[in-house]
Amino acid sequence: MTSHLVTGIAELVTHDERFAGPLGVLPDAALVVDDGRVAWVGPASSAPDADRRTDVDGRAVLPGFVDSHTHLVFAGDRADEFAHRMAGARYTGGGIARTVAATRAATDDELRTRLAALVAEARAQGTTTLEVKSGYGLDVAHEERLLRLAREVTTETTFLGAHVVPPGVDRGEYLALVTGPMLDACAPHARWADVFCEPGTPLAFDRDEAHAVLTAAASAGLGLRVHGNQLRPGPGARLAVEVGAASVDHATHLDDADVAALADAARHGGPVVTLLPGVELSTRSPYPDARRLLDAGVEVALATDCNPGTCFSTSMPLMVALGVAHLRMTVEQAVRAATLGGARALRRDDVGHLRVGARADLCVVDAPSVAHLAYRPGVPLARTLTLARTLTLD
Ligand code: NIG
Ligand code: FE
Repeated sequence: MTSHLVTGIAELVTHDERFAGPLGVLPDAALVVDDGRVAWVGPASSAPDADRRTDVDGRAVLPGFVDSHTHLVFAGDRADEFAHRMAGARYTGGGIARTVAATRAATDDELRTRLAALVAEARAQGTTTLEVKSGYGLDVAHEERLLRLAREVTTETTFLGAHVVPPGVDRGEYLALVTGPMLDACAPHARWADVFCEPGTPLAFDRDEAHAVLTAAASAGLGLRVHGNQLRPGPGARLAVEVGAASVDHATHLDDADVAALADAARHGGPVVTLLPGVELSTRSPYPDARRLLDAGVEVALATDCNPGTCFSTSMPLMVALGVAHLRMTVEQAVRAATLGGARALRRDDVGHLRVGARADLCVVDAPSVAHLAYRPGVPLARTLTLARTLTLD
């Protein structure tokens, strides 16, 4: 096997506690990759030999971003809905039905092409692990199809049949479908199940319905995730704690009891709180307060939620910048949330850090420190570093 030495790293974020600060940073560092894994990290002055060598020329390197929440398999466009919102309309989730209609009408190849383009777009901005949900099929055949397509690009696939009750379908019948035949068809293609738990949004699911969806999914062997507390205070976060979900996502409206429950659960591997500030940006809504969760000891992840309705962005650097600008995060907290936090939300220990043994997923920042991700918002500095015969920045 060919080993590869990366040199010229002005700042290396490892999340290795042996190194400095909250991110385990090594200045003037080098890193050796062997067989796709990190084999050595340390000061450039003591770097070992390797078969090949890449010089990143004074740039910063961090673990590839882990985007633990996306809805990337869909067809159609809702730019008009976005424009109406910016003119004063409110987000209600009603547009989901339009994406469902467009997605059902698309061929596998049309969906595949769109999905591949979005994955490439994410990768070009430093994302190396992506979760992808279904949820725009909403019948057995289409949900199963979306998960089959998602599985072509990632192992982190999530069954979101319980996104909304499709218009014109009886609630009770739909719940029976999602917890029965649809789950049976989708579970073989999914690692996770998710539910849009938002009482007050008529097409979404209340606490008891969401509980039924999650317990059925757990019995089918799926890990659990929850869309909760997005539009108003509600039961999502506490339900996530109760059922042992890996994460509760959005979590924009948490009360003190929610934070206390999440903090208590955090002591024994409770849910990661995945904040999605691109949604607040794209729906012009108040941002959540990440600092309140971090101060309480809760693990926070940042993700894009990339979807055609509430945030059509694949950019993890944007989420880091928003985390710092609007969620009261320090640069270190935001960088951790976009890497290690995402990995923890997916219960993965092979990604999101660059300790020896990690997958060699490297994000290189065209700047001397990772602070530039937030310091220079909107500037395309982050890229995925592909280690091949020659250096490729894609
Ligand atoms: O995560 N909240 C529910 N689902 C998506 C939005 C779906 C859509 O509007 O198409 C979300 O924000
Ligand atoms: Fe979402």
